[in-house]
Amino acid sequence: MEQKKGVGSGVSKAVFPVGGLGTRFLPATKAIPKEMLPVVDKPLIQYAVEEAYAAGIRQMIFVTGRHKRAIGDHFDVAFELEYELERGHKTELLALVHAIKPDDMDCVFVRQPRPQGLGHAVLCAESVVGKEPFAVLLADDLMLGREQRSGGPTILQQMVRAYEAHPGTVLAVQDVPRQDTRRYGVVDVHGVNETLAEVFGMVEKPVPEVAPSTLAVAGRYILTPAVFDSIRRQPRGAGGEIQLTDGIAALIGTEKVYAFRYDGVRYDCGSKEGFLEATIDLALANPALSAALRAHMLKALG
Ligand code: UTP
Repeated sequence: MEQKKGVGSGVSKAVFPVGGLGTRFLPATKAIPKEMLPVVDKPLIQYAVEEAYAAGIRQMIFVTGRHKRAIGDHFDVAFELEYELERGHKTELLALVHAIKPDDMDCVFVRQPRPQGLGHAVLCAESVVGKEPFAVLLADDLMLGREQRSGGPTILQQMVRAYEAHPGTVLAVQDVPRQDTRRYGVVDVHGVNETLAEVFGMVEKPVPEVAPSTLAVAGRYILTPAVFDSIRRQPRGAGGEIQLTDGIAALIGTEKVYAFRYDGVRYDCGSKEGFLEATIDLALANPALSAALRAHMLKALG
């Protein structure tokens, strides 16, 4: 990972809720978290951590569940591996392993005792976050800025810039087909500019007939510390879950909440379809793999 200096945006901490059960990916997720599933050669969580790092964030807070070890180990020193790589003069591989956690990055692990919803996972990070704005990244949404591969901003970098211009809660949103609104949190907005709009209402998973818009919340948020009390005040939703959407929705009217239309793509890697799409697109974009993959796909498609 390239080491960049912090951008001094005031957003210096990122929370990664990784305590979900990942049932849509069983049996793969029985013993490892879905965030450790690799797209090409890198686990989903590493894509998200790199995105946060590129946005100037240096403290990464993982809210883990029963699958604590794999993620902790991934961001820790692997002494035997590094020793063997060094002994074999495999300097490129050694650099690849070291780059997972740059020296100026701090990793903190917090336990979510039981998966009680995304709002509950975010609450578990409260004592580490303190009274600062912070980012939340759902690693199973793999998100890439449109120009990111050629040095352009990541999605979270775009959001941090929006936050600097308009401090408040910033939610990444994308247009979805109306029939899909029941899969997302959906916002009711009034335009500020082409990419940023003020949110006046928010509904979790509305049926298409009552959805206030087709702007759906994706897995990137910049939140203010006021969200913690707000989440705590919410009654539990369906299945006893504590919803993040409800906590954010209750802030509207007391604090500015913005919807940010990001410039890039999102792969829902919590679903098999999205995971396969991400794998194919990233492999096709990889010079070492694309020719062989293209040839194989042409053959497979007959
Ligand atoms: P999802 O609802 O997509 O995750 O939560 P899930 O429950 O793991 O997946 P399925 O539906 O059973 O396949 C979105 C994000 O919130 C985290 C998940 O890890 C995922 O990144 N999450 C969810 C928590 O950390 N804790 C929870 O209690 C719930």
